[in-house]
Formats: sequence, structure tokens, C-alpha cells
Amino acid sequence: MTAPKHVAVIMDGNGRWAQQRLMPRIEGHRRGISALRTLVETARRLEIASLSVFAFSSENWRRPADEVDGLMRFFVSGLRKEAVPLRDAGVRLHVVGDRSVFSADLNAAIDEAEAVGASAEGMHFNLCLNYGGRWDIVQAARALQLEGREITLEAVGERLCMPWSGPVDLMIRTGGEQRISNFILWQAAYAELWFTDLLWPDFKAEDLKAALDWFEGRERRFGMTSAQVQG
Ligand code: IPE
Ligand code: IPE
Ligand code: MG
Repeated sequence: MTAPKHVAVIMDGNGRWAQQRLMPRIEGHRRGISALRTLVETARRLEIASLSVFAFSSENWRRPADEVDGLMRFFVSGLRKEAVPLRDAGVRLHVVGDRSVFSADLNAAIDEAEAVGASAEGMHFNLCLNYGGRWDIVQAARALQLEGREITLEAVGERLCMPWSGPVDLMIRTGGEQRISNFILWQAAYAELWFTDLLWPDFKAEDLKAALDWFEGRERRFGMTSAQVQG
């Protein structure tokens, strides 16, 4: 069994982490950023080729305005602060999602951080912001339609938002829920799914290692029989 090339993480449970401590939910998001930093460092150290994280879904706009504003502020400040350290660690940042509704500030921070990271060659880091798996498929189909191309499996795959990362091998979700919540859909068609009750701010390097160890034990059959895979 080979190590996963593309790991996707649904970082869930920030709000509950804070509420359990009688703190405002935004404090959970702040702690969540530290956990994300550890995740990125660990994935890079373990030579994962691509890491995709769900930081804000296309449905998260439905949250109270103050929580949405606080998250947007974290994205701007986090991108400004982390762009150079990420690049220096060999991490190539891509912000993936529908950027058309972001503030000018956030779009500028994204442009700058992506430009800084463009020369990094160690790991693709897809930060999914205002991302939805269904939106991704629709935007790919629209692009093909505009190009006058036939809609085939290969063509859609090429037009999805992060073609550099290929299929998701392992999808991790913290926070106890066992659902995908419109994260990467197409590329996760054959992903192994790993769930934990840990709340995202409590997720540590050893938890990623536990998920990777578990992944090593999976037999990925892609529709075939076990005998075929082992033969
Ligand atoms: C995940 O944590 C982070 C985002 C969705 C931005 P939540 O904020 O969903 O935390 P819970 O699920 O309410 O605990
Ligand atoms: C998924 O978490 C989105 C992110 C982690 C950014 P949610 O907390 O929004 O998911 P649901 O609403 O519980 O399915
Ligand atoms: Mg949640």
C-alpha cells in the first residue's frame, strides 16, 4: 500500500471547541489556525504531494454576520502573515473557490500570497475558500461549454479547480460528523474516509500520522476484486 498523494481535510469543530470553554466561537477559529499550521508542517515533512483543506464552504455564508466577518479577517491576516513562511518551507499555496464575492482586501491578499508561493515546489496546499464541490463541477462544465468542447470524464477532470492535485486518496474529517458537506466531490470519488471525534483545534501531528497509518492498511479496489488487486 502506497502513501496518499492527495489528502483532503474537513477541519470541523472549532465552534464547539470554543463553546465548551465558554469562549466566543471566533476563538475556536483562532485556535483552528494553529492546528492548521501544524497540519501543513507535518504534511510537508511527511512528503505528502497535495494537501487540500476546507476553510470556508459556499454554505458558510449562512452563519451569523459577525462570525463570517471574523473568519474573513482571519483569512486576510493569515495569508499576509503566512505567505513567506509557507514559501520558505517549500509549500505552494493555491486559494481554491469562488473568489467573485470576496472583498478587494481579501482578493489582494490572495493574489499576493499566491504570487509569493508560485516558486515553491515541495507540496501543493489548496486552501478552499468559498468552495463547494457542486460549484466546482458546474464551473468546469461551463468552462468546457464556453470552449465548445465535449463534456467527457477527462475534460471535466481537467477543468476542475485543482487539476494539479489529482484524485483525493484520503479524506479526513474532524468534529464527529460523518458527512462530506459539499467538499471535494468529483476527485473524492474513491477517497478513503477517516473520521474522528476530535475537534479541529485539538488535532495534532500524531493524529495525521494515525490517519496515514490507517490508510496504509486499506485495500483500494477501484471496482475490482480483492484477488485482482493482490494478483
Ligand atoms: C469548522 O468549525 C470551521 C468552519 C466551518 C469555518 P465549525 O465552526 O463548523 O465548528 P462547529 O462544527 O460549529 O463546532
Ligand atoms: C464544513 O463544516 C465546512 C468547513 C469545515 C469549512 P460545516 O460545519 O460547515 O459543516 P456542516 O454544516 O456541519 O455540514
Ligand atoms: Mg461545523
